[in-house]
Amino acid sequence: MAIAGFSQVGVVGAGQMGAGIAQVCASSGLRVTVTDLSSGVLEAASRNIQASAARLCQKGHLTAEQQKLTAEIDYTTDLSRLRDCDLIIEAVIEDEAIKKDLFVRLDQSVSPETVLATNTSSLPVTRLASVTNRADRVIGIHFMNPVPLMRLVEIIPGIATSPEVQSRAVELVTALGKEVSLSRDFPGFVVNRILMPMINEAFAALMEGVASAEDIDKGMKLGTNQPMGPLTLADFIGLDTCLAIMEVLHTGFGDPKYRPCPLLRQYVDAGWLGRKSGRGVYTYNN
Ligand code: CAA
Repeated sequence: MAIAGFSQVGVVGAGQMGAGIAQVCASSGLRVTVTDLSSGVLEAASRNIQASAARLCQKGHLTAEQQKLTAEIDYTTDLSRLRDCDLIIEAVIEDEAIKKDLFVRLDQSVSPETVLATNTSSLPVTRLASVTNRADRVIGIHFMNPVPLMRLVEIIPGIATSPEVQSRAVELVTALGKEVSLSRDFPGFVVNRILMPMINEAFAALMEGVASAEDIDKGMKLGTNQPMGPLTLADFIGLDTCLAIMEVLHTGFGDPKYRPCPLLRQYVDAGWLGRKSGRGVYTYNN
């Protein structure tokens, strides 16, 4: 089946975001190939996708047929297997040099018709597109974590992205059952431009001893009806990712109001990255 002219989707990077993106594309009927440098990461992605799809099926959010489709995802460490994809979504680490290098390689090896999308949480789409010979076919498609549960996807056309590619991206994301928020290509787009300064401010309040982590989280969770307090959410997203996004906002706007909180930086320096490392603001047993 094809959605907006896309039938074969490649996902590069099988971490939490890449796995989630692969899962929602597959359960919507697209053929999906996921690639990662590490076979261990691919195995974990496959296990997580199966567990997530089973949970969603049990709750009646996916049909048994859709759950079966997620078992047909193809996993490979060989990037050249994405040759026949008509859409490739990269979800590798938030490092501009790594993303650019990947886009150069993909640009040289896949059909000129293939659309290259980035799931970057804040890096300029225009700058990533500029290293390719297809800037009109590069677009930001930014999913939220956890992808199978979160309803929003930001779509960020770069300055040279064609209106046709933008409308195909919107059609695709809508067919995945998500809501689109369209954003111009400015640092942090919409969600992270607003969310990350809130998280950064929670770290500042913690650093200044205004309140304990638990009270800061309780205040924001119960006081503003958020599902998680900002420090719990920061641990969930990854403190390194939060810091990287604050750096992009700080450099991109050149405005001191986006200065990363020194305590956030210190936690990252200590390797306290949140849930994924077992310790962030809070400690985790598994
Ligand atoms: N797949 C399927 N089911 C899942 C799942 C997944 N990946 N993750 C959790 N669930 C299920 C759980 O099994 C649980 O099911 P039951 O109710 O049957 O037990 C249910 O979802 C709720 O999970 P929890 O009980 O663990 O916790 P919760 O009620 O707090 O919900 C949450 C979890 C949906 C993550 C919720 O806390 C939430 O919405 N948090 C905020 C998330 C958020 O803000 N994300 C955006 C981050 S910003 C971003 O992503 C952008 C960026 O660039 C950084």
